[in-house]
Amino acid sequence: MSQELVLNAHNLKQHYQVKQGLFKPDATVKAVDGVSFTLEKGKTLAVVGESGCGKSTLGRMLTMIETPTDGQLNFRGEDLLTLSKEQQKELRQKIQIIFQNPYGSLNPRKKIGAILEEPLVINTKLSKAERKAKALEMMAKVGLKPEHYDRYPHMFSGGQRQRIAIARGLMLDPEVIVADEPVSALDVSVQAQVLNLMMDLQQEFGLSYVFISHDLSVVEHIADEVMVMYLGKVVEHGTCEEVFTNPKHPYTQALLSSTPQLSRDKRRQRIKLKGELPSPLNPPSGCAFHGRCQYANDRCRSETPVLRSTNNGHLIACHAVEESRLDSLAGAA
Ligand SMILES: Nc1ncnc2c1ncn2[C@@H]1O[C@H](COP(=O)(O)OP(=O)(O)O)[C@@H](O)[C@H]1O
Ligand code: SF4
Ligand SMILES: [Mg+2]
Repeated sequence: MSQELVLNAHNLKQHYQVKQGLFKPDATVKAVDGVSFTLEKGKTLAVVGESGCGKSTLGRMLTMIETPTDGQLNFRGEDLLTLSKEQQKELRQKIQIIFQNPYGSLNPRKKIGAILEEPLVINTKLSKAERKAKALEMMAKVGLKPEHYDRYPHMFSGGQRQRIAIARGLMLDPEVIVADEPVSALDVSVQAQVLNLMMDLQQEFGLSYVFISHDLSVVEHIADEVMVMYLGKVVEHGTCEEVFTNPKHPYTQALLSSTPQLSRDKRRQRIKLKGELPSPLNPPSGCAFHGRCQYANDRCRSETPVLRSTNNGHLIACHAVEESRLDSLAGAA
């Protein structure tokens, strides 16, 4: 099957100006600092990294909730950032977002039917009866019953609420779903059910997913590609298979080894992820990971590594990987 490019992000940046107090100059938070990727029809790109790495900011740019401070964003060849407001409104329907907290994102005073139909009221000319029919159809697709139509969000479990949020995200027939930690608030047993549902819906509707998670174990079965972010930058990007079986960046290795239940993790040595994510207000010089990296040397402290392709297209930003000194050191550690 030929590949069909849906979303294309190039060098996306979101730099926030933040006030530091009355007599201090404004500071810049580089929440996202030059992220590029392509997403094909029916595929899932997982975006992973600790809390604060810029994942949600990226998600807000992809769904046009926020305008990037720099970079390009294309949806099916259309430049989303230079479109008129009217055109933007239309294309925005094609890229929907689902948030972590399904309760916070569902209006508690509205019944499920009204919540699902709201996007149709705003964006389509469908009649009341047509809207209801579509809501009921989508409820069935996500495993909800017709009698749930007249119930309020608080009457549902966390997993069911996330099903409602997913159904709402699908009401306008989107092509891309940005799912921002969609299962992070759910019990582990429920997580698997919601992930399975998302994979079924992806098949049925040919959806492309940008699946954001701080937890790598969640993405192993759903992702086609994995993009690892650290302080606003991509440090590793490869196929799911490669990133899980042959992670190269020390940060990815540390993230993986702190995820004990991974099936392919058995042979991997345990690397402890030391310290905290540095403040994005005052990011470290050189490689932003150097303060936490067991392979850091002088070059790492002064020179920012560039994301480069290894021979098979696996992208890594690390001096030690480039210098091939990681493997020998890992053996000695
Ligand atoms: N509106 C904003 N103004 C200033 N800083 C922000 C804003 N939104 C996010 N940030 C900062 O950007 C960084 C990335 O945040 P976020 O995208 O939420 O990361 P993640 O989703 O990976 O946890 C954090 O340091 C956060 O505090
Ligand atoms: S560039 Fe240096 S500090 Fe950064 S991850 Fe690679 S080895 Fe560690
Ligand atoms: Mg987030």
